Amino acid sequence: MIYQLGDFHFPDDPARLYPHTPERPWVLEVGFGDGHFWPHYARTFAEAPNYLGVEISGVSLLKANRRLRDAGLENAIVTKLPADVLVREVVPPRSLTEIVVNFPDPWPKPGHTEHRLLRAPFFRLAASRLRDGGAVLLTTDHDEYFEFACAEAEASGVMRAEHVAPPAAALETKYARKWRDLGLSAHHVRFVATAHPSVPGGTFTPYPENETDVPHAILKLPAAFAPTDFDKRTAHAPVRGLDSTPGWTVVLLDLYASLRRDGWVVQAHVVEAELTQEVLIGVTGREDGTHLVRLARFGGPIITPGVKAAVGVVTAWLEDGGAQVTHRGY
Ligand SMILES: C[S@@+](CC[C@H](N)C(=O)[O-])C[C@H]1O[C@@H](n2cnc3c(N)ncnc32)[C@H](O)[C@@H]1O
Repeated sequence: MIYQLGDFHFPDDPARLYPHTPERPWVLEVGFGDGHFWPHYARTFAEAPNYLGVEISGVSLLKANRRLRDAGLENAIVTKLPADVLVREVVPPRSLTEIVVNFPDPWPKPGHTEHRLLRAPFFRLAASRLRDGGAVLLTTDHDEYFEFACAEAEASGVMRAEHVAPPAAALETKYARKWRDLGLSAHHVRFVATAHPSVPGGTFTPYPENETDVPHAILKLPAAFAPTDFDKRTAHAPVRGLDSTPGWTVVLLDLYASLRRDGWVVQAHVVEAELTQEVLIGVTGREDGTHLVRLARFGGPIITPGVKAAVGVVTAWLEDGGAQVTHRGY
């Protein structure tokens, strides 16, 4: 079954996600590609564990979903998101039994290692979401990434490396077969969580049902306010701490005038770690002569620190144009 970000709760509950099998172990696979691993691996259990697969490629998502359906695996969910966002915001503490990473992108060029998934912050996040005895399973053909991941796991202070044989299914993925056909072998390591640090999520909420909870501001525009051009505007907040909330970047891209009512719509691009959302923020006239700046429901945005900040950036832009803010709700 395919889930979008807005289908999840923050954090979610395995009993809600897998209502028929809530008591089974829960396995997350990061970067499942065309989805060969899970149908093989699930068969090695008496009862298929609950499965959550995360990918950033939409084509892979569709292929894997078809494969899961053909294998009759009903307690399986796949989603198109960056792994760190899903783990931090959706997966509750101490809930997963395994996090499987088969042949992750190695980012081999010098200076590109910050793009690698298996760095110390990810290991700390993973350890916080794994149950007692839970582990990250890495299989890779890439010698240098393998050494790098082992060093990062050690630096995280919350993982113990066990050098064991890989599950047979990890050697049957698309990339496993590709490298084997080229005569290359694969490394495998099981990183067992030795502690469960507190790595908070809780920064995301769905678009509120109650209008007053939608990020907004009320302001009085100057009488002659009628923008005829718009310069792109960017604002940025840095990451706060190793285990803390990611920073955000907001870019106000364009301004559109409404033909139907007194107002405008700002198009904004919001980037938080690996998550990007395109949102619309309305600036709409009210009966009392003030204007309401509010995040639009269009596109199903998730309320994140960056999305709230985008409403603040639009408000600040209007203040620079002479607006007087009477209320801030973001
Ligand atoms: C080299 S492929 C391996 C695919 C598959 N595991 C296999 O063994 O055939 C790496 C996969 O990881 C996915 N990926 C890369 N970064 C990711 C991220 N941050 N979150 C989720 N998936 C990611 C890529 O889209 C790609 O499909």
